[in-house]
Amino acid sequence: MLIYEKGKRMLPIGPLMIEHRLIERVVKLMESECLRCKTERKADPLFIDAVVDFFRTYADRTHHGKEEDILFRKLAEKELSPEHEKTMNELIEEHKIGRKTVGELHDAKERYVKGESGAVDDIVACLDKLTAFYPAHIETEDEHFFLPAMDYFTAEEQAEMLRESEEFDANMIHAKYDGVVAELEAESR
Ligand SMILES: [Fe+2]
Ligand SMILES: [Fe+2]
Repeated sequence: MLIYEKGKRMLPIGPLMIEHRLIERVVKLMESECLRCKTERKADPLFIDAVVDFFRTYADRTHHGKEEDILFRKLAEKELSPEHEKTMNELIEEHKIGRKTVGELHDAKERYVKGESGAVDDIVACLDKLTAFYPAHIETEDEHFFLPAMDYFTAEEQAEMLRESEEFDANMIHAKYDGVVAELEAESR
């Protein structure tokens, strides 16, 4: 994984590529769970809750958040090659698909808990979609987009992006638990 510039500084894509490895580990767990759901025709609502929280908080808000709000935003200010512009737009569209599918997985789990027949099939369909989609999305970023994207930036711009990424991450834990407390308060009313 080439995330350091010639053995020195970490590139701003470094944290993103490290985060991809954690997302891949969750995808592996989802693949096994999906297989089990298909054979046993039973879902595990607690597993789905954990997956939904992981995708919403980590994969989407924290990881896609840094991609879209820092890297892609700064790339949009550059004169991109048509190929890179096309790839970036496709990646943004894929983030939307990921977000929507995670929402559908959450809804299917709610219906499953209420005993709705067919909900297990919807859970399987969402798990299938997410486990097929994420590895391909990550491969595009890791193998075909992130490193060439670095060529649009000076060393100073890259260092600034890395600094912004660290700040983004530092704020995330507070945003997450502000949300959790607000939800608990709403439920207690
Ligand atoms: Fe992405
Ligand atoms: Fe990514």
